[in-house]
Amino acid sequence: MSNIRKVTEDIYWLGVNDEGLELFEEFIPIPEGVVYNSYLLVDEKTVLFDTADIRVVDEFLASIKAALDGRTLDYLVVQHMEPDHSCCIQHILETYPDVTIIGNEKTFLLARQFGVEIENESIQEVVDGESMTFGKHTVVFTFAPMVHWPEVMMSFDVTEGVLFSADAFGSFGKLVDGKLFSDEVDYETDWIEPARRYFTNIVGKYGSHVQHLLKKIEAFEVKMILPLHGLIWRENLGYFLDKYDKWSRYEPEEKGVLIVYASMYGNTEKAAQSFSELLKAKGVEQVATYNVSNTDASYLVSETFRLSHVVIACPTYNLGIFPLMHNYFLRLKELNVKNRTIGIIENGSWAPKAGDIIHDYFDKELKEMTVLDDRVTIISAMKEMNDPEIESLIDALVESLQTS
Ligand code: FEO
Repeated sequence: MSNIRKVTEDIYWLGVNDEGLELFEEFIPIPEGVVYNSYLLVDEKTVLFDTADIRVVDEFLASIKAALDGRTLDYLVVQHMEPDHSCCIQHILETYPDVTIIGNEKTFLLARQFGVEIENESIQEVVDGESMTFGKHTVVFTFAPMVHWPEVMMSFDVTEGVLFSADAFGSFGKLVDGKLFSDEVDYETDWIEPARRYFTNIVGKYGSHVQHLLKKIEAFEVKMILPLHGLIWRENLGYFLDKYDKWSRYEPEEKGVLIVYASMYGNTEKAAQSFSELLKAKGVEQVATYNVSNTDASYLVSETFRLSHVVIACPTYNLGIFPLMHNYFLRLKELNVKNRTIGIIENGSWAPKAGDIIHDYFDKELKEMTVLDDRVTIISAMKEMNDPEIESLIDALVESLQTS
């Protein structure tokens, strides 16, 4: 696959798929891979927007050289200092010693913290809203702090309506068959899940900052969005902007029930699966059921952002809750997830405690959660005596789905 493609008459995509990276940020599995995007504006001046991860430095530098086609690089705009986009800055400085690096005060602070050897005469510091003209293209630098690092800024090419959006509007997933634009793929089938998982796990904590950003870019006539990961948007931008709006307001995309269960010997699993079937039989179309022991928390987080209701089915463990379930809860708290309705199925063989702990956690540690009073308590294994509680919890969920 070529690593260069024209995006507009003067803007080139330079991207490299990372084929071998298993864990993004060393903890989030990415079986779908990831691509590092950067972009080159070729005008009277040549301007590179961000670099790439050191893992792909050779391909990246070769792409720049090819896209420059004999010209030198005049500017490098550093929109984001996280190393997956900034690790090659030093290589750019060495390859193009006359390059000027454009960034903000925090950019250069972080660059030096990360050990980039950068002379004062090689930098141009910009402030929020400042613009620069590189020929026929004028670019406005728009700061987007905490989306998702403090130094993040975006660049809006006023001339062509192109928003270089840094990590925002990005996605996990490598490019396949050179398909670079969201309108070249079946986005709903192949890309929305990795995009959601990317947003929720990487940017999810900073919903209010994303809301601020969305309002800020309303002032621009954005025709294209060029993120640092994933696909470029040039059509149907409203679809993805709406997803970002919902995710960053912690508003569910769909009414439905996520069932997350933990089960040491299969009894809670049996209860969760049976509960799932009963919900479907009651006409709930969106039911997604996951075992916390074989599902990475990043997927559970993503599904929690997608759906409106969550049922936790969990055994009592050391008079607490199952450790991997606890890890999922910690992730929800860390990412500021709110505004969901929670149902509880607890299990315990001699002292069922999980239900109270789960109730307290969602009530006190997380915000704007509604914990249903109806609870199922299983003693070791589900029996007929549990039927009324199960019926009651299902009725409460169905009523809540209908009225919320
Ligand atoms: Fe893809 Fe925040 O770096």
